[in-house]
Amino acid sequence: MRVDQQRQMKHYLMLSFSLPALVLNGNRIRDQILAELRAGVEAMTARGRPPGLAAVLAGRNPASEIYVRNKIKACESIGLYSEKITPPDTITTEEMLALVAELNAREEIDGILVQLPLPPQVDSKRVLLAVDPAKDVDGFHPMNVGLLVTQRPGLVACTASGILEILKRSNIPISGRRAVIIGRSDIVGKPVAFLLLHENATVTICHSRTAGLAAVAREADILVAAIGRPALVTREFIRPGATVIDVGMNRLETLTDVERIFASMPAKIEEFRQKGSVLVGDCHPADVAECAGAYTPVPGGVGPLTIAMLMANTVKAAKCRTGSSRSA
Ligand code: GUN
Repeated sequence: MRVDQQRQMKHYLMLSFSLPALVLNGNRIRDQILAELRAGVEAMTARGRPPGLAAVLAGRNPASEIYVRNKIKACESIGLYSEKITPPDTITTEEMLALVAELNAREEIDGILVQLPLPPQVDSKRVLLAVDPAKDVDGFHPMNVGLLVTQRPGLVACTASGILEILKRSNIPISGRRAVIIGRSDIVGKPVAFLLLHENATVTICHSRTAGLAAVAREADILVAAIGRPALVTREFIRPGATVIDVGMNRLETLTDVERIFASMPAKIEEFRQKGSVLVGDCHPADVAECAGAYTPVPGGVGPLTIAMLMANTVKAAKCRTGSSRSA
């Protein structure tokens, strides 16, 4: 019997008190992936040089600063060369384009990551289009998007490919299953839809204007919530036993919100009192734990995979650029 069938059965047998939902631990899967990459990086380093990543962080967005710091730390943990470039938040589009052109030309840089959002005066689309597709480790360049859509090898957006890693490494069946994605962003919703489609799921993309959103979501064997709305996905969205992937990272900053969403979790209310904010995903934490067969927690679910897949993309880009993937 498949994992999802077992989990669905639990609800039909009313055994939910004795068989809790499977928590899909993103930290554990990230560590597995990083360990697998480390050996390849060592071999590449011994043959010449380590793969190199340049992270461009323009301006002073606190969340972006944390993301980029964690990306650089991950590089260090597996032996990648990394550089953080921090232009001021007054940078112009032309200056960003010149910076990207310089990174495109540097031999020892295999991956270029332009952290979003860029300051408002910068034309993000022009900047992302200027990144050499062979170094586009975020998978945002239209060339890589086209390669994904047409199922050709390329660099795929990290959060989307991280979601596939979670599902596959947790033995969640995809082929023939119904997948519903809430959110149609270029970064997550659209690429994960194509990845699931290519694994033979039947895919529906929903968004803020979808009529009868909860009813559509309830058809899903695999539900991906990536819309950026705190705890939007409640029990009526979740088919009993479904696998729920929560991509949301929403910061709650008022006690009213925290008490409403975490009513049954006093530890979270205490965390809020101490820190002044707490994170919540796009799924209601108590509802998803009760109704899903398997789910990713927030934090510690999808987030760690985004960084692991960025590392994987950087190693892949380096192999393709040096031709070692052909000889490997
Ligand atoms: N901002 C939020 N998520 C991402 C991401 O995955 N990559 C980049 N470059 N910026 C982001």
